[in-house]
Amino acid sequence: MIRSKILGTGSYLPEQKLTNYDLEKLVDTNHEWIVERTGIHSRRIAAEGQNTTDLAYEAAVEALRNANLDAKDIDLILFATVSPDTFMPTAACILQQKLGAGNCAALDVSAACSGFIYGLTVADQFIRTGDMKNILVIGAEIISRFVDYEDRGTCILFGDGAGAVVLGQCPEGEESQILSHDLNADGSLSELLTIPAGASAMPFNQKVLDEKQHYIKMNGREIFKNAVRAMASSSKKSLEKAQVPPEKVDWVIPHQANLRIIETVAKYFGVSMEKVIVEIEEMGNTSSATIPYSFNESIKKGKIKRGDTILFTAFGGGLTSGSILLRY
Ligand code: UT7
Repeated sequence: MIRSKILGTGSYLPEQKLTNYDLEKLVDTNHEWIVERTGIHSRRIAAEGQNTTDLAYEAAVEALRNANLDAKDIDLILFATVSPDTFMPTAACILQQKLGAGNCAALDVSAACSGFIYGLTVADQFIRTGDMKNILVIGAEIISRFVDYEDRGTCILFGDGAGAVVLGQCPEGEESQILSHDLNADGSLSELLTIPAGASAMPFNQKVLDEKQHYIKMNGREIFKNAVRAMASSSKKSLEKAQVPPEKVDWVIPHQANLRIIETVAKYFGVSMEKVIVEIEEMGNTSSATIPYSFNESIKKGKIKRGDTILFTAFGGGLTSGSILLRY
């Protein structure tokens, strides 16, 4: 049976920092509150003229280099984002052209902060069937362009960034492979996290802009509760499917939305925080990019090594959730 393996990883954050002290000048908040409630100190904001596919390009180039592959070797680009450059063409098509990836298949994956987990799961299926050899999976966002910097409930959280992995066929006998995954969605709770306008239900007009309906609306407290529940439950299912007990997991990389959510999920599992990758402090919540970004950074820092067993778990608007267990 063909299995898939992570061949290479990459990540990128734009240069401009937005600190908690900067936010103090915009809304009624303070550095201490933000750190205590979220663990975030600063986040990055894309420069004017920089697009989501530009961030993705940087991450993709690094991932291809680490995989020793050329863009032309890619069979499919799966681009997880809720902040694409445009609805049409898709971010995946724009990135294909920027990378010079030939005429490979290209598709956007829309599952909010769980988008990367959804994308990697889809990629795994294509590789398992033998239909494709190398798939580029991206999580990239310029979410700051959908944030109301007068809403202290959301503007303190979000930042821009990108992460990428190249998934390929696992040579026979190799240990490195995706072991299991689990995906979920609960549309009945979709109202808790939305961007109401800008699509067909509420096209742009002056009223939309005046009422700021094109920005993220979030019920933070309810999202918090559901995030913990969903990530814990999905992680459990992935571990059960692969028959791997939690103590055999070397690293957990949870979606980086709030340090308290991460700590609560770790506690639920009885996993020590030393085994949990945390990159939120200087990055904030970059939606679909948090997991691939944190993954690549941990590899670069020498924390994660080949052979380690890793659990990804994510949660986001939709509401969507999912997890992946893999041996790196
Ligand atoms: O990527 C997936 C989607 N997002 C998430 O997973 C985020 C999930 N939610 C959260 O991270 C948290 O709910 C927040 C960080 C957004 C808010 O933290 P909280 O501990 O849930 O705060 P709260 O909404 O319960 O508010 C507590 C108090 C309130 O004051 P009162 O009513 O107790 O007087 C708020 O008005 O804190 C106040 N508050 C703030 N104060 C200073 C809310 N936001 C702020 C702020 N600065 N930015």
